[in-house]
Amino acid sequence: MTNPLDATPSVKVTVTGAAGNIAYSLLWRIGSGEVFGADTLVDLALLDIPSAVGTVDGVAMELNDSALGNVRSITVTDDPAKAFDGANAAFLVGAKPRGEGESRADMLAANGKIFVEQGRAINDHAADDVRVLVVGNPANTNAYIANKAAPDVGAEHFNALMRLDHNRAISMLSEKLGEHSSAFENIVVWGNHSDTQFPDTTYATVGGESVADRVEREWYENEFIPRVAKRGGEIIKVRGRSSAASAASAAVDHMRDWVTGTEGKWTTAAVVSKGSYGVDEGLVFGFPVIGINGRWGVVEGLELDDDQRARVDANIEALRAEAEIADKLF
Ligand code: NAD
Ligand code: LMR
Repeated sequence: MTNPLDATPSVKVTVTGAAGNIAYSLLWRIGSGEVFGADTLVDLALLDIPSAVGTVDGVAMELNDSALGNVRSITVTDDPAKAFDGANAAFLVGAKPRGEGESRADMLAANGKIFVEQGRAINDHAADDVRVLVVGNPANTNAYIANKAAPDVGAEHFNALMRLDHNRAISMLSEKLGEHSSAFENIVVWGNHSDTQFPDTTYATVGGESVADRVEREWYENEFIPRVAKRGGEIIKVRGRSSAASAASAAVDHMRDWVTGTEGKWTTAAVVSKGSYGVDEGLVFGFPVIGINGRWGVVEGLELDDDQRARVDANIEALRAEAEIADKLF
């Protein structure tokens, strides 16, 4: 007798850092059909380091006990070749989180080499249509490293997560203006997932009205921009550890929109630059993007005034400096 599940569309999804905090939220969202669609089954590959595989076995047991509608199979492994074999999507979460007082760039020494190894495994084993979303910090430069380590896979297959910054920007505007988050459009967070990032409301609207007309410039420059940029640190201070459920939620938003599109609406994704807005080719940079036909298109042709230009340039500088360190890993 044939199994009806064999005829259902399916994707192989690799999640690294599967024993960690973010994965503990993310896996359930993936398994519930929120990312790849209610009609698509997922074969999950859970990767972690050897000392954490026991914990991942426990996570897999809990996933099974949840009887999630979209999970077809679960593989637990510490072998990147096995984890990425045939992967259609990969969430690269596994990396050390920062503690209080550390910068995300400080994480490069500890985490950078992980992405050389995983980029190589993706290059050799993943499916041709693989979508790689780097979450582990410093996310932009780790995505730069993974892309560089995978020369046979097109650069458009590698993204870094800046949707959390985008969601934080919307949330702060929503609180300030007393408008629901769903009413905001045309927000972008340019640059690096770090304190230099530039949450930009120049083009933003709420219910069709210009956001810039409704917030004071002083608040925008001195409260909004720095608070969004430093929100990760604020969470670490208050919660005692780095953001997890909100990061998982943003990763769900990012991958879902990458796969299914944004219906012409802007969002933020860190993608490998092809030179837009003067960003060096190859740097992984937060841009305004629209998801269409399973790909991101950068929103081109926006005029940047001197203030915007300076803030974008600060991010180019910072990412160039990180890339210089990352290049030494090869
Ligand atoms: P965590 O410490 O709870 O879990 C990290 C997991 O990664 C651990 O299980 C660890 O064993 C595993 N790991 C380490 N090296 C690995 C390797 N080579 N292969 C596979 N797994 C490996 O951390 P977390 O809270 O889940 O955060 C994970 C990362 O995500 C951190 O770097 C954190 O800073 C980052 N983060 C990014 C964003 C973002 O918006 N981009 C948001 C929040 C957190
Ligand atoms: C975040 O923005 O919450 C994460 O990148 C964690 C951190 O180190 O800030």
